[in-house]
Amino acid sequence: MKIISDIQELRDHLRGQNRASFVPTMGNLHEGHLSLMRLARQHGDPVVASIFVNRLQFGPNEDFDSYPRTMQADIEKLEKEGVYILFAPTERDLYPQPQEYRVDPPQQLGDILEGEFRPGFFKGVCTVVLKLFSCVQPKVAVFGKKDYQQLMIIRRMANQFALPVDIIPGETIRAEDGLALSSRNSYLSVEERAEAPELQKALKAVRERVIQLRDRNTQSISEIEKEAIDSLAKRGWQPDYIAIRQQSDLAPASNEQLQAGKPLVILTAAKLGKTRLIDNLEI
Ligand code: PAF
Repeated sequence: MKIISDIQELRDHLRGQNRASFVPTMGNLHEGHLSLMRLARQHGDPVVASIFVNRLQFGPNEDFDSYPRTMQADIEKLEKEGVYILFAPTERDLYPQPQEYRVDPPQQLGDILEGEFRPGFFKGVCTVVLKLFSCVQPKVAVFGKKDYQQLMIIRRMANQFALPVDIIPGETIRAEDGLALSSRNSYLSVEERAEAPELQKALKAVRERVIQLRDRNTQSISEIEKEAIDSLAKRGWQPDYIAIRQQSDLAPASNEQLQAGKPLVILTAAKLGKTRLIDNLEI
C-alpha cells in the first residue's frame, strides 16, 4: 500500500484511473470501516482510503484533541484489506491556507438532529468530503449507514453539485451484544461498555411501539419518542434525541405517514458518561 500525504503526489499516482473507489475515514479503524473497504472493492478498483481527523467538523468543546489516533495499527489493517493507496494528509497538506470557502448544507437537513446538537458539524463534514473528492476523484465513495444523516447529506451534496461520484451506503456493523461499532466506543469504561447496548435496545423498543401504533393507533409518535427518552434517562443516559423520521428527508413522521406505510427511521444520540453515541434503526 502506498501512503501519500501530498495532494499532487496523490493525483500523480491516480492519473488514468477512472474507476477508483474511495472510503474516507478519521482513522482508529474497526471492523465497521473494514467492511466499507470490502464494499468499496466490489464497486471499483483501485480502493483508496483516507485518514484525516478533520478539525472543521469538531465544535470548540468536542474531542478533536483527544480523538483516538492509531495510524500504525490502521496502516496494518488497511494493508490486510488490500487497499491500494492510503491518503493521509496533514492539516497543512489539506488546508494550506485557512479554509474560507465552506459547503453549507440546507438548514432543514443540516441543522436538525446531529446538526442541532453539533452546530456546524455538517458544514465541516461537507467541506472536507468535497475537498477529499476533489483530491481523489473517485468513481464511487462508500459511507456507513451508522452516520445516517451524514450519508443523506453527502448524497444530496453529490447530487446538487453534479459530482461524478456514486455514493454507496454500507450497513452498520455491530458487536455481538448489538452495540454499533464506533471509534468513540474506546472512550467507554467497563461499566459503560456493559450498559451501551441499551441504546440499540431502546431503538428496537421504539420500533415495536411504532408498529403497534400503525396496527392499533395507540399512542402518538411524540409520546413514543418521549417515553424512550425518559427510560434511557432513568438508566443514567443523557439523551440528546430519539426521533422517528421519514427515511426520504428526515422530516418528522406523522401518524398519517405511518398509516400510509411510508418508510421511517428512528435516530438517536445519547451520552453515557462523557461519551456521546449515535445509532439508528430503519422501520
Ligand atoms: O464519518 C467520518 O468518519 C467523517 O465524518 C468523514 C466522512 C471521514 C469526514 O471527516
